[in-house]
Amino acid sequence: MKILANDGVSQSGIAALEKEGFEVLTTTVAQEQLVNFINENNIVGLLVRSATKVRADIIDNCPSLKLIGRGGVGMDNIDVAYAKEKGLHVINTPAASSESVAELVFAHLFGGVRFLHDANRNMPLDGDSKFKELKKAYAKGVELRGKTLGVVGFGRIGQATAKIALGVGMKVVYSDPYIAEASVNVPFFDGQAVSFNFKSISKEDVLNQADFVTVHVPAQKEYVIGKAEFNLMKDGAGIVNAARGGVIDEVALIAALENGKLSFAALDVFESEPNPEIKILMHPNISLTPHIGAATGEAQDRIGLELATQIVALLK
Ligand SMILES: NC(=O)c1ccc[n+]([C@@H]2O[C@H](COP(=O)([O-])OP(=O)(O)OC[C@H]3O[C@@H](n4cnc5c(N)ncnc54)[C@H](O)[C@@H]3O)[C@@H](O)[C@H]2O)c1
Repeated sequence: MKILANDGVSQSGIAALEKEGFEVLTTTVAQEQLVNFINENNIVGLLVRSATKVRADIIDNCPSLKLIGRGGVGMDNIDVAYAKEKGLHVINTPAASSESVAELVFAHLFGGVRFLHDANRNMPLDGDSKFKELKKAYAKGVELRGKTLGVVGFGRIGQATAKIALGVGMKVVYSDPYIAEASVNVPFFDGQAVSFNFKSISKEDVLNQADFVTVHVPAQKEYVIGKAEFNLMKDGAGIVNAARGGVIDEVALIAALENGKLSFAALDVFESEPNPEIKILMHPNISLTPHIGAATGEAQDRIGLELATQIVALLK
């Protein structure tokens, strides 16, 4: 049985599938040639990340296809309901990348409070001629320890982020309409662990209390953070979006940075992805990454293995 991993899959995933007798093709087939390729090669499983779209054209015209797998969480690029209606298995790997995204959030937070995003832009240009000026410009850093992290959306990634915050010595508050209470277990290297119990509070209270806000909700129709929400935040707060573009109103974000309400923002995802607005890209107070939250070797290994386990269970 042949599996096409059109956006790639980890070597560990390939090995696990091959061990069970599957053949894994890792050719990246152009979107418009996918139907032909799947039919010509009798593909039974199509694995994608976020690039390849799996819409009705593929679902309707590829009779050999039995399974669609998304390496990662969001399934915006797959017509899930339609595929299921047509009898296809649709799988994803919701838990595999939570810790990687959480670490990226903290990379942005640690960077943000010490202006690393801006220092890294300016040191190569002026570090030799204006060292003292740059030193002064980046001298008013703050520490994360002792500050409050507000988490909006307390699912897998929200809780993974909270664990790191607790380890750093931050206070954590969260808002999630569907998770009234949560117990977060923070494990240490030597087997010790400490559990913390939390209760959801209103989004308004989170925004009010937090020094830094991080958003971990699924894509939704309305902005979760817009002008009204920025106004509720503490003066000089920071915000991170490593969830989905469109969760934060970018126009309101720029305004909040320019009027001094926010001190910095960090974005891994963008409203107009994959062509983020130039105002966002050029802003000195925004720390930027190109949607790499899940892009660690460890997460990709877990994703590949999780997909392989599910494929073997469903198709063998
Ligand atoms: N940056 C990346 O590369 C990357 C990687 C993986 C996932 N993500 C994104 O991260 C987000 C969270 O993923 P997850 O695995 O934690 O999902 P999850 O389903 O485990 O958690 C999401 C939580 O958000 C809550 N929620 C929904 N709407 C809300 C709202 N309006 N206000 C507050 N809470 C709300 C839900 O109740 C749920 O508990 C998703 O958008 C996902 O697509 C990004």
